[in-house]
Amino acid sequence: MKELQIRLSVSILSLDELTAEERELVLKAKEMTKSSYSPYSHFSVGAAIRLADGSIYAGSNQENAAFPVGLCAERSAFFYAQANAPEQAPVAIAIAAFTGGAFLAKPISPCGACRQALLEAETRYGQPIKVMLYGEEGIYVVDSFRDLLPLTFDGSEME
Ligand code: THU
Repeated sequence: MKELQIRLSVSILSLDELTAEERELVLKAKEMTKSSYSPYSHFSVGAAIRLADGSIYAGSNQENAAFPVGLCAERSAFFYAQANAPEQAPVAIAIAAFTGGAFLAKPISPCGACRQALLEAETRYGQPIKVMLYGEEGIYVVDSFRDLLPLTFDGSEME
């Protein structure tokens, strides 16, 4: 038998330990929770994406009475960036969630569909996207979506 071991390294940092640019992205993700349309879940998520040219595109979760039609904050921000600046590689994303009058103490992590969407961008642009997950007790930082979604299918197998 052979075994493949996959390790994930998560750094847990305070806002002060982030660079100024990272902090700006996290604060933008927090701010974006205010534009969430989430009358069904009452769970407001904000996401902010930094592109290679330094610009920021941000989004929030948008729900719908027909539940599956809604969209997560991460893909809302990502598709917005792609639609407006397709020539710029995404280099970092920050995510924050607010519910019951407060930001979560422990961060949320992107759903499988968002991981897949952002992972494919890493392949397409040939560079990792740093993931910063905001929690009041600490910000989880992971180097890439490939780390969050190992054993990937990113389309390269079809070439
Ligand atoms: N949601 C996000 O926007 N991002 C996540 O990472 C997890 C979940 C949204 C989808 C839905 O509007 C609400 O949170 C509850 O699942």
